[in-house]
Amino acid sequence: MQIIKPREYFDGEFELPGDKSITHRAVMLNSGADGTAVITNALTGEDCLSTCRCMKTLGADIQVDGTTIAVKGTPKFESAKELDCGNSGTTIRLLTGFVAGKNITAKLYGDSSLSSRPMKRVAEPLSLLGAEVATTEGHAPVFVAPKKLQGARVDLAISSAQVKSAVLLAGISADGETTVSEPVKSRDHTERMLLAMQANMKVNGNEVTVKRSELKSLSLCVPSDISSASYFMALGALKGETLCKNVGINPTRTGILRAFDKLGVHYELLNKRVSGGEETADIRVKKTNMRAISLTAEDIPSMIDELPLIALLCAFADGESRITGAKELRVKESDRIQTTTELIQNLGGDCTATEDGFIIRGKKSLTGGNIDSYLDHRIAMTGAVGLIASKTGGAIKNPECCAISFPDFFEKLAK
Ligand code: S3P
Repeated sequence: MQIIKPREYFDGEFELPGDKSITHRAVMLNSGADGTAVITNALTGEDCLSTCRCMKTLGADIQVDGTTIAVKGTPKFESAKELDCGNSGTTIRLLTGFVAGKNITAKLYGDSSLSSRPMKRVAEPLSLLGAEVATTEGHAPVFVAPKKLQGARVDLAISSAQVKSAVLLAGISADGETTVSEPVKSRDHTERMLLAMQANMKVNGNEVTVKRSELKSLSLCVPSDISSASYFMALGALKGETLCKNVGINPTRTGILRAFDKLGVHYELLNKRVSGGEETADIRVKKTNMRAISLTAEDIPSMIDELPLIALLCAFADGESRITGAKELRVKESDRIQTTTELIQNLGGDCTATEDGFIIRGKKSLTGGNIDSYLDHRIAMTGAVGLIASKTGGAIKNPECCAISFPDFFEKLAK
């Protein structure tokens, strides 16, 4: 149990952990590249350590020291491997595409939460390239058999950076050309990193085309994760003023800022610069009286992981907010439509779950109370924000899951 006390005022300057999506990709892509890369400000939370463990099993030389990860790529991947992806959806989905292109046998599996998440969405597009990927009734364990791949066109029905990346990682080992398109552009860290590693690739709007590529290793300093920063940004908006330093502001990830614009939250981007092919800034957020908002399908991909927190902010906003087109939330680490709704209700808020989102009737303040993380890191951290901003505070059950993406979250909050 983690006890959280309410605060009248919350302010401070925060350095956040490295970006989870970028760290996964930096470890995976460098494992298949020529040379040695040093990745600094890497996230060494449990999910990224799962990627490190899998890439080591496949033969890469990986040394983790604090927040620095050194990766020496392997020219040849080892076959017949069991790859334990832990709780990490990004690891299992990207790695399925990666190993499908390496002409090897592998079994990819994870914990019970990961085993309940859909894997056909990766297996089916990869089969269009000739890959042999068998799921277990649509889920992990996933079995990849050696096959020579042939480039193909893949039109994704849902926008998913994990699925898009799996296809691209297979595509760089296939004969011919592979094109992947998606309805709304999802995060593009894979594309940016592949380009920086000299892959043979073209981006045209929501469509990406790759050809067989030999990757050059890439050392980089990972920007801080806007998803981790968002909890401290929200506390600034609710309770005072916060400054989050060196945060990645890739436009495919900054949906929370567009949600802030709609809510009327005052924020500023300071000290803009570029780090590791990604734009970063310091983000200052000040307390604001928020108004209700409406978010629809095209808003969702760039704020997908922040939606529980945005729903919580709506519970403090003036009026009725509606979030639609967010059905993907049902297949995250928990069913986040269900768990976010329960979280807001347990805090004393008014939230109704719909099939693909939420209806939230805002109140000036929430009471507080005891809440459950449902073993989902984003729900635990959203809950902590809600409790700090509530009247009584309360306790969070199973808070340790924060280590998935933000190992020292509660320490940072206490400072
Ligand atoms: C991620 C993509 C998103 C996101 C996840 C990380 C990535 O998932 O929710 O936390 O690093 O590619 P989907 O691709 O399933 O939308």
